[in-house]
Amino acid sequence: MGNFWHPFADMASVSKSGEFVVERGEGVFVWDSAGNRYLDSTASLWYCNVGYGRHEIAEAVAKQLQRLHAYSNFGDFATRPTLELADRLADIAPVPDSKVFFTSGGSDSVDTAVKLVRHYWRAVGRPDRDVIIVRRHAYHGMHIGGTSLGGIDANVAGYGALLDGVVRVDWDSPAALADALTAIGPDRVAAFFCEPVIGAGGVFPPPPDYLRAVRELCRGAGVLFVADEVITGFGRIGGSWFASERFSLQPDLVLCAKGITSGYIPLGAVLVAPSIADPFWMDGASGPWRHGYTYSGHATAAAAALANLDILDRESLVKRAGELEGTLASTLGPLAEHPLVSEVRAGVGVMAGIQLAPDSIAADPSLPDRVVAGLRSRHVLTRLMAGGALQVSPAFTVEDEQLVELREAVSDVLHDLSASNTL
Ligand SMILES: Cc1ncc(COP(=O)(O)O)c(C=O)c1O
Repeated sequence: MGNFWHPFADMASVSKSGEFVVERGEGVFVWDSAGNRYLDSTASLWYCNVGYGRHEIAEAVAKQLQRLHAYSNFGDFATRPTLELADRLADIAPVPDSKVFFTSGGSDSVDTAVKLVRHYWRAVGRPDRDVIIVRRHAYHGMHIGGTSLGGIDANVAGYGALLDGVVRVDWDSPAALADALTAIGPDRVAAFFCEPVIGAGGVFPPPPDYLRAVRELCRGAGVLFVADEVITGFGRIGGSWFASERFSLQPDLVLCAKGITSGYIPLGAVLVAPSIADPFWMDGASGPWRHGYTYSGHATAAAAALANLDILDRESLVKRAGELEGTLASTLGPLAEHPLVSEVRAGVGVMAGIQLAPDSIAADPSLPDRVVAGLRSRHVLTRLMAGGALQVSPAFTVEDEQLVELREAVSDVLHDLSASNTL
């Protein structure tokens, strides 16, 4: 075992059992160092929307690297692919003519948004609006801002004092948001952060009418609506570029990362509605906004994103994702009949959570890890989300039969575990 400290890992256990090294990818498959092929049911961490091994992106990246790998975009500097990508994103943004602030990933986008909404209210003379409301089960990245906004207890605990002025509400209740607005005083609230479909928290699609109702509440109270579309963006919601478009959210800010490049190069972005950007852009604005990252708008990352968007467009993969959401739900749905599964959450976007039964996990806390290990030994890669649900979020190029193979593999593993003496 070498010196690599794995993220989200128990290093004592990784050191003991060894690393699983992924060497190569093609389509929905990856290969390990021994040459074994695996069906990647999660598109890595939700991001590889166009699938692995896209030479077109590699070539766009190589071309940009040879011309100019990157140059700072601070102040009046700009690089060509960055300008092109910003305009292209503005064209598909849920709010027309949105301004585009680039970051290096999802956590950067979240923390940029936290700072942006608070700065916005100061810029318009309302510094008292500084409270941020978030939802239980939410995942908003791992920077200090995003950790403070998190709704998964295990991710928030253990750091002492985090960001002040964060209020958490039930994930599925417009009434809970309404009560919080009343309790805090609606004109003290800066923003509501919302994943249209909760992802890492376990895949929780919004209850019917939830998003319309919370959007209305925010509009009524003048609270900014921040759609965290780090997972749902770039087609993963199925049938549209963004969940905000699908659910007519007209958000003030949209947070992006992951599918923007399908992970070929790290990149994130915040799409800002013109009404929110105005105080920063208009004549007489109070000087520069002192925020940005060394790699904000990195030229090579932007070139990768442009090539990725070309593929999504040319192969109609956003439309294909729309077809897949029903297939995913109908193919995986029968797994809910297994006693070790309490429910299958699917049906909105190319994302599903196979929830292992809480009483079975309570009886054997090693169950979730054993399911994941059993699947890996059957050459299927998945991972656990909060609460013991298996993540399914494949590339949009996945074939219907591959989803059937995935279901059969899960079913076999559950059957074997039930048949063993321990369950
Ligand atoms: C909804 C959401 N927001 C933010 C993030 C953080 O993104 P990153 O890991 O790229 O920093 C994630 C990552 O999974 C996410 O799912």
